[in-house]
Amino acid sequence: MKIKEINIKNFRNYPYLSIKPNENINIFYGKNAAGKTNILEGISMLISGKSFRTNKDKEILKFGEEFFQIDALIENGGLEKDYFLEYSQNKKKKITVNLSNINSLKDLRRQGQIVTFIPEDLEIIKGGPSLRRKYIDTAISNLDLIYRYNLSKYNKILKEKNDLLKTRNKRLNEKFLFEAYNIQLASLGAYLVLGRIKFIRDLNKEIKDIHFNISDGDEKLDFSYISPLRDFEDIKDIEKELIRGLNSALEKDLFVKYSTYGPQRDDLEILANGRDLKIYGSQGQKRSAILSMKIAEISLIKKKKSSAPILLLDDVFSELDPLRRKRLIENIDGIQSFISMAEKKNVEEFKNILANIYLVKDSNIKKVNGGNDVGK
Ligand SMILES: Nc1ncnc2c1ncn2[C@@H]1O[C@H](COP(=O)(O)OP(=O)(O)O)[C@@H](O)[C@H]1O
Ligand SMILES: [Mg+2]
Repeated sequence: MKIKEINIKNFRNYPYLSIKPNENINIFYGKNAAGKTNILEGISMLISGKSFRTNKDKEILKFGEEFFQIDALIENGGLEKDYFLEYSQNKKKKITVNLSNINSLKDLRRQGQIVTFIPEDLEIIKGGPSLRRKYIDTAISNLDLIYRYNLSKYNKILKEKNDLLKTRNKRLNEKFLFEAYNIQLASLGAYLVLGRIKFIRDLNKEIKDIHFNISDGDEKLDFSYISPLRDFEDIKDIEKELIRGLNSALEKDLFVKYSTYGPQRDDLEILANGRDLKIYGSQGQKRSAILSMKIAEISLIKKKKSSAPILLLDDVFSELDPLRRKRLIENIDGIQSFISMAEKKNVEEFKNILANIYLVKDSNIKKVNGGNDVGK
């Protein structure tokens, strides 16, 4: 997937901005608060229907304006498509592709995927299990739309069950009701668990060569799925085991007033040379691991989907050491990438690469070249 042209209107600090990006790498550099991340956010909004910074579209609307719009010409699998997105205050977002309405984010994401790498992603390794679950869930959802659908259904039902655990109504036939919830949770949860087992297996295979390259042969990265169901293979067995586990946890759940058992409690252990990276890893090792995970994600999308994703790197490039930067550039060759950085100093590293380089200033961009942009 490649963006040929993108125009944004009333988006954050931009009254209007038009970009004809390079189909390989696009660098945006400029001072703090110049509006670099806002450009990446606009791309994410159009392709995934969401910002990677906020769930509130209203925040994105340029101060004092009534609506924002993004339109783009995007090439995918040999076809060119016109994308259009409009948000007006108090109205639902409207998205069309080739003038046809896109009514769900699922349908939008069927068209193409985006992989983002932002400074907060380091928390996937350093932070709590929920961030690692979110990483796995997002990565699998990019590959499997049914997973995305089942996950959101699972979460909805889980929330209902948790609400009921909090505000019990003893007049109801409680046990019967909770068991009915458990049947639904087990059926959806089994799909999630099996999806995670398979994804982590694929990720382990994919990351081997990537991380060998990123770490210069120093380190082996492994992922281990932390779940009581990690060794299962068959969806029916997982479902049976989930029902059993959910029902036997009920007494405890009623006491603590939330659901103590199920895939919402899973975790992912990330091991570097066999040791837990979260505990023993240096800052640099953690950064390299995240970098490899992102590259593996791109690689899995390329393999399993008909087209490559678009990559957004917000403020992370300059944080990597020179070797990792070099490896990163090698690994994303051919993937259309949008990279923001505060300082111009790393721009030099793109001089032999197909790239457009833009200075972001005064709510506008100026192409300064310096990358090998073959006259585009
Ligand atoms: N809704 C909005 N309307 C107008 N300007 C905004 C809005 N939201 C953020 N901004 C402005 O955008 C700028 C920050 O842009 P950002 O892309 O985060 O900068 P950076 O170049 O550091 O990545 C700030 O000047 C901020 O005031
Ligand atoms: Mg920024």
